[in-house]
Amino acid sequence: MLINKMNRVNGEITVPGDKSISHRAVMLGALADGTTRINGFLRGADCLSTIDCFRKMGIKIEESNDTVTVYGKGLHGLSTPSETLYTGNSGTTTRLLCGILAGQPFDTTITGDASICKRPMGRVTKPLELMGADIENEYCPLIIHGKKLHGIEYDMPVASAQVKTAIILAGLYSEGETVINEKEKSRDHTELMLKAMGANIKVDGLTIRVNKTESLKPQNITVPGDISSAAFFMVLGTIMPESKITIKNVGINPTRTGIIDVMREMGANITILNKRTEGGELAADITVETSRLHGTEICGDIIPRLIDELPIIATAAVFADGKTVIRDAQELKVKETNRIRAVVDEFKKAGIDITETDDGMIINGGKPIHGADFVTYGDHRMAMSLAILAQLAEGNSTLDDAKCVDVSYPSFFDDFYGLEK
Ligand code: S3P
Repeated sequence: MLINKMNRVNGEITVPGDKSISHRAVMLGALADGTTRINGFLRGADCLSTIDCFRKMGIKIEESNDTVTVYGKGLHGLSTPSETLYTGNSGTTTRLLCGILAGQPFDTTITGDASICKRPMGRVTKPLELMGADIENEYCPLIIHGKKLHGIEYDMPVASAQVKTAIILAGLYSEGETVINEKEKSRDHTELMLKAMGANIKVDGLTIRVNKTESLKPQNITVPGDISSAAFFMVLGTIMPESKITIKNVGINPTRTGIIDVMREMGANITILNKRTEGGELAADITVETSRLHGTEICGDIIPRLIDELPIIATAAVFADGKTVIRDAQELKVKETNRIRAVVDEFKKAGIDITETDDGMIINGGKPIHGADFVTYGDHRMAMSLAILAQLAEGNSTLDDAKCVDVSYPSFFDDFYGLEK
């Protein structure tokens, strides 16, 4: 796909629903006693994989545009799937399902696409095994033999909401208390939604305590726009000349807003308006305007709060004066692709001064760049970041596979070009 260049961007945009919350709403809705209605559901490929897996376990789920209705059958209402559960490109579906399926009275097999089959699952299967789970393999396909589980105390070795959530979900089925200690706080959508549904869960700072739960109350869930999708327009509106973009109804859960902190620190003009809480999740409208950016250092406990935004933050750094250093981000290596390697290799094609490090990258920004034929590695966030990078490059750029944006943002290119003014 040839990336068309725009001179400037202006206007209002609404990004699709939050991916993490959409997954959780379907999963917890399926386990609740009765009907959960989800508004603002992200109809991206990853969340559709979650729907598909639960349908295969006997859950009726209706879809009408971005409203999804899940007819939950209770914590013990899933039935044995007659075939392998296919999770596509979705790490969240795969890892969270492990937590739910480990304690079921039946066996299941989970697998996904080529990328999923290369992503580490030991980080989930190991703690689940300590709880009594029996899971074959550390990479997909995973064969899960349902077992009776018991609580454990677990110190998280990596900041990962997927691992944390898998343990919490298994904890709902376990005898005794499950205690999870995080080193750095990762996204807490599971904890918030479970509390709203009446689960036996308590959060005290970095410690989460879960006890066996008999039932979950169904909810009407309104999913705010995904800040990880809004991030692309936050950067676009900042780096393009004479531009201003308002992104309406974006989730600003504090465990997700690292990009706002970093962009402001880099000099971005960002205004947050109409703050409100819906279903325990904070949301607001975000306005960004053309800004002069400067380099910064990004490391430490902010990393889990912006982990998915690092490719687009790296894009911002290219147009920022001076040096940007990203450290402590080794988790990027096990995302949909190795995002450290992918960003560095693709940015180099555009003549960018960028160096790969073991846990991040160093970018010397503020220099002219040129277009290139970019490779996305089938990674949605790489594709969207490169499309934005290409806007300020001299000459033309192409993407080998633009379709992969369907994973989290099927209407990305329509929204992107719709902003040209
Ligand atoms: C997610 C957690 C993060 C994030 C992913 C979604 C979630 O992954 O990168 O896109 O919904 O829990 P990790 O848990 O591996 O950090």
